[in-house]
Amino acid sequence: MTEKQHNQDLMIKLVSLCKRRGFIYPGSEIYGGLKGTWDYGPLGAELKFNIKEEWWETMVKKRDDVFGISTSIIMNPKVWEASGHIQSFADPLIECKTCHQRFKADQKEQIAEHEKEHAKNKEKTEWTEPKKFNLLVETKLGVVEDEKNITYLRGEITQGVHVNFKNILNSTRTKIPFGIAQIGKAFRNEITPGNFTYRSIEFEQMELQYYVKPDEKESMKQYDFWKEIRMNWYKDLGIKKENLRFREHAKNELAHYARAAWDIEYNTPFGSPRFGEAGWQECEGIHHRGDWDLSRHQQYSGQDMSYFDAETKEKFIPWVIETSGGVDRAALFFLIDAYHEEKDPEGNGAGRIVLKLHPKLAPYKVAVFPLLANKPKLVKKAREIYVDLKKEFSVAWDDRGNIGKRYFSQDEIGTPFCVTIDFDTLEKDDVTVRNRDNMKQERVKIKELKNYIRDKLDV
Ligand code: GAP
Repeated sequence: MTEKQHNQDLMIKLVSLCKRRGFIYPGSEIYGGLKGTWDYGPLGAELKFNIKEEWWETMVKKRDDVFGISTSIIMNPKVWEASGHIQSFADPLIECKTCHQRFKADQKEQIAEHEKEHAKNKEKTEWTEPKKFNLLVETKLGVVEDEKNITYLRGEITQGVHVNFKNILNSTRTKIPFGIAQIGKAFRNEITPGNFTYRSIEFEQMELQYYVKPDEKESMKQYDFWKEIRMNWYKDLGIKKENLRFREHAKNELAHYARAAWDIEYNTPFGSPRFGEAGWQECEGIHHRGDWDLSRHQQYSGQDMSYFDAETKEKFIPWVIETSGGVDRAALFFLIDAYHEEKDPEGNGAGRIVLKLHPKLAPYKVAVFPLLANKPKLVKKAREIYVDLKKEFSVAWDDRGNIGKRYFSQDEIGTPFCVTIDFDTLEKDDVTVRNRDNMKQERVKIKELKNYIRDKLDV
């Protein structure tokens, strides 16, 4: 199998596993779907929740200089004039004159591929001049049909933070440097949604806006600090380090608000909208936004957005270092990285698919099985253990089929531990605990079970 076929195959298998086991479904599927929208099933919702919890823990709870907030999706449309999105959040697009397919003018690979397709039919591709197309999703507000006001679903969650800069300063009495963090939905009229959830029209972002003095050296120190924090977050949650890298944006690539930008990229099995070509793709952006946001809001709202430093008696518009990651992209990359196919070590059977998700991210931490579903004493004991573990962990219950099938089923969704209650349990008050990654089994006393799992999970 070529590498391209392998990559194609991997994505097809992952998309299918996600649907089959309840991680991710196509949006509005019974109506034929809606391109670029995805719904998260029971396991996907848990995975996303765990990702967001880990992010909040690292970026907000463990710090004394960062405050978490939650702001509106719909904002006064003037916000988007001030932020520059109405004017600049537009991608120059080119259109193929033969088949009317559109591409971002900078999608060199896809453009070349499209030209190749036409060349196969001995056609020459002719393109229109690049035209601007706004990525902001419009919506209308108002109860009277004729008097609806056009507004936008936020294109980035960032602006909800900046418009509240003064509110937060006043309510927390904090001092610079400090950060404001939030997690929430953003919407973009993406021209080429695709690569599963990678480019969607509705997605969640997790962002930090960190306010610093307008000083080149100090701001770059903070910039480098946050770059490392963000990269380590992915590594600590189990992404293989060879699949992560930094990439600096070239000057002509920078977003309208950015003085400097580095992306954290993941080595994906897809490099183009068609699965099959491996390639590094953006996972998170670390941006030096300078004083762009606060200055613009000061200009457009007429409100004073400056900060007064009581020690130095200086008044200034702070600069901003931003870390902006996608929850959906993180979930996708955690899933791709965790996906493993392993041969049966005994050489019999079909082997197994195992999601080696970090235990902190795994939707279930433990699964509990009674050895036999038709032995009431075993089921009763297993149920007691299940209920007790559920007080602390997220726990799955399975009493269908044989133990081998149940292990296989939990491996496929990344459950780190399976606990089996058998006849010995009734006599000796111990259970078999089977480890997802090495498949080793150990007998553990029921009274030590919670501690055992807690230690191994590192939670
Ligand atoms: N506030 C800065 C900002 O929004 P961005 O690079 O446009 O910067 C940040 O987006 C992150 O949001 C990306 O690195 C990605 O993880 C996520 N993201 C952006 N567009 C997305 C899309 N269409 N689908 C899924 N995630 C997306």
